[in-house]
Amino acid sequence: MAREESAVLAIDGGTPVRTKPMPQGLHGINEVGEEEIAAVTEVLRRKKIFRFLLSDEDSYASRFEAQYREFIGTKYALAVTGGTTALITALVGLGVSTGDEVIVPAYTYIATAAAVLTVGAIPIIAEVDDTLTLDPADFERKITPRTKCVIPVHMRGLPAQMDEIMAIARRHNILVLEDVAQANGGEYKGRRLGSIGDAGAFSFQHYKVITSGEGGMVVTDDEQVFRRACCKHDSAMAFWKTEQTWQTFPGENSRMCELRAAVGYVQFQRMAGILAQTRKIKRRIAEGLVGTPGIELVRVSDPDGDCGITFAFYLPTAEEAKRFSRALAHEGIRNGTIYNKDIPDRHIYAYWDYVMNKWSWDATGYPWAPRYYQGRVEYSQDMCPQTLDYLGRVITIGISQSWTEADADDVIAAVRKVAAVYYQ
Ligand SMILES: Cc1ncc(COP(=O)(O)O)c(C=O)c1O
Repeated sequence: MAREESAVLAIDGGTPVRTKPMPQGLHGINEVGEEEIAAVTEVLRRKKIFRFLLSDEDSYASRFEAQYREFIGTKYALAVTGGTTALITALVGLGVSTGDEVIVPAYTYIATAAAVLTVGAIPIIAEVDDTLTLDPADFERKITPRTKCVIPVHMRGLPAQMDEIMAIARRHNILVLEDVAQANGGEYKGRRLGSIGDAGAFSFQHYKVITSGEGGMVVTDDEQVFRRACCKHDSAMAFWKTEQTWQTFPGENSRMCELRAAVGYVQFQRMAGILAQTRKIKRRIAEGLVGTPGIELVRVSDPDGDCGITFAFYLPTAEEAKRFSRALAHEGIRNGTIYNKDIPDRHIYAYWDYVMNKWSWDATGYPWAPRYYQGRVEYSQDMCPQTLDYLGRVITIGISQSWTEADADDVIAAVRKVAAVYYQ
């Protein structure tokens, strides 16, 4: 249970709950050890870094894919060079192309929208709700005859509301691509994230639950989607394996090399341990804060499936959130607000400059120009007020697997202390 602390806040000259820094907040990268080093060394020693020089039994890339097929429970998995690439590869796999609209949440990393633009489609931005994930009602409102796909994003380990999203998508004949970049290993009502939609895309970038430095994975149950994804990720895919007889198209090489795959393969084995600990810590903090005045915990669509890597709560107003956040930091608990107008955070649609301004690498204005896109879309920084309201009022605390129960108790004590002074 939380310890009693001095009622005078540290920000007002009192004694802080904690003076020792909290353990660092990263996940897979913090666990890198002798096993990753041995696997990479093995790859270098055998001098075969290109996956197709090796049999499926010997290739780390093939074995990494097999881990995902089994874990996610999909028929197919394809390792690629990054999470953005996984989204692009999956979109091409699904058949999304020039002139299509793809609905994306207003709170996601800019990469989600970039992937849509890269395949020539138009990102349509929808609100998030109190779960910090796509608001199903606004998703439905944003559907037009051009809507081809929706990308629910499981932000910060929090599962999106997949039952509602899938029901709406099926009703309107819209494809679903899950962006699982930030929620590797998460679940929704007993199903692995990435297995619920028509395809899923994962990232193994440095900050993610597990990492291969850079890397990504596409998963799907659909053979056609998988074949197209294979073509997209390798300009000569059809020629490596002679039995592949389907109609090909040009791809770009975004194959995963054996070095990255070796790291990812070992990291995969660490994921269950990482998430068991983050989930335990998050549960302890949430239980310890029941009934705390002034704060409201972020609603989680499925608490058992949550990765447990983010603890988040709302204050009544953005001003109060800023004040609370500062006081909590003085108590020794690292935390952050999300939308505070001081930092152009690229996870918030309002700071997606090239989307807001319809900027493109292409001189003809692709893909927004009328010759490519016959719909109408306007963007503005205040177009999703509900999202900005939630992101302005929320305080987040990143949870690491290296935290102990005592660390969790310090978080509880500090939040209770600040809340007691401001709201009792
Ligand atoms: C929600 C989300 N989608 C996509 C990506 C892109 O992944 P990557 O950096 O591996 O390209 C990221 C992260 O970086 C992300 O957080």
